[in-house]
Amino acid sequence: MATFPQLRLRRTRRTETLRALVRETRVDIGDLVYPLFVVEGRGVKQEIASMPGAFRFSVDLLPAEVEEIAKLGIPAVLLFGIPENKDEVGSEAYQRQGIVQQAIRVIKRAVPELLVVTDVCLCEYTSHGHCGIIVDGSVDNDQTLVLLARTAMSHAEAGADIIAPSDMMDGRVKAIREKLDEEKFQHIPILSYAAKYTSAFYGPFREAAESAPQFGDRRAYQMDPPNVREALREVEQDIAEGADIIMVKPALAYLDVIRRVRDTFDYPLAAYNVSGEYAMVKAAAQRGWLDERRTIEEILTAIKRAGADIIITYHAKEFSRWLSRG
Ligand code: PBG
Repeated sequence: MATFPQLRLRRTRRTETLRALVRETRVDIGDLVYPLFVVEGRGVKQEIASMPGAFRFSVDLLPAEVEEIAKLGIPAVLLFGIPENKDEVGSEAYQRQGIVQQAIRVIKRAVPELLVVTDVCLCEYTSHGHCGIIVDGSVDNDQTLVLLARTAMSHAEAGADIIAPSDMMDGRVKAIREKLDEEKFQHIPILSYAAKYTSAFYGPFREAAESAPQFGDRRAYQMDPPNVREALREVEQDIAEGADIIMVKPALAYLDVIRRVRDTFDYPLAAYNVSGEYAMVKAAAQRGWLDERRTIEEILTAIKRAGADIIITYHAKEFSRWLSRG
């Protein structure tokens, strides 16, 4: 093996053309999924305070927004609904005329080829802000499954392309798969938030979706951050129950988890570059403390390098603009 001075690793770093030639990882626009928050009302395009550049839209403004997203080459959106009325059992999550169901129909009519992924969870719809039904002060797993399956079904009926459960109940993938298959939606894939951790990085999202728990926290169902072997078991279970695509969330503090899952399972793997990760970059960039574009490119590339095939990110639009303009 050659060593210095015959070997000089700097030789292939000398110009941008050389660097591009030996580059190992590239983020493609086609890898990205852009999250969208949908609210009731008309003419609403409201910026989320802790997520500059991200907005909540009313359904009537979605066609223009998704046309722009599709024009940028982004293949998919991930929908979150923020209903006007919340109750103990999250009824608005599984109504035919619910906010997400309306949004799905409008988007599929405006841009049929854009993939609509829907987040299936009750936390945006329950008055207590937990991801399931409360029985004796804690979230009841098995009763929640029935409502999650019903929610997933209503999304598929409205035209969703991919169902993405994010609640972290045991058995939800199986419950949703069975329900979809019973109702002739065998062709609809499930993207499961398989290894979803309890995380401080969801803070801005909870402001955006008004979904902060009114008591307690989510530690009794979302994963404990120190654990990685357990993440592999979660993924294994979701695959056994019928997940088609698996996810690790958040992304940045969990790049090792992404890598372990990538090396262990030959399934398409998504990573969620979550709201808090976005907010940190925006806040520092606004103060001139970070070069925004370089930071975002480095972050997305790192998530891909760790092993993610698909990246869900609030940076999708700006990144796509930079990539297409060069
Ligand atoms: C719903 C859900 C959450 C996120 C995605 N789906 C919030 C949570 O679990 O508290 C977080 C996304 C983000 O922070 O960008 N359960």
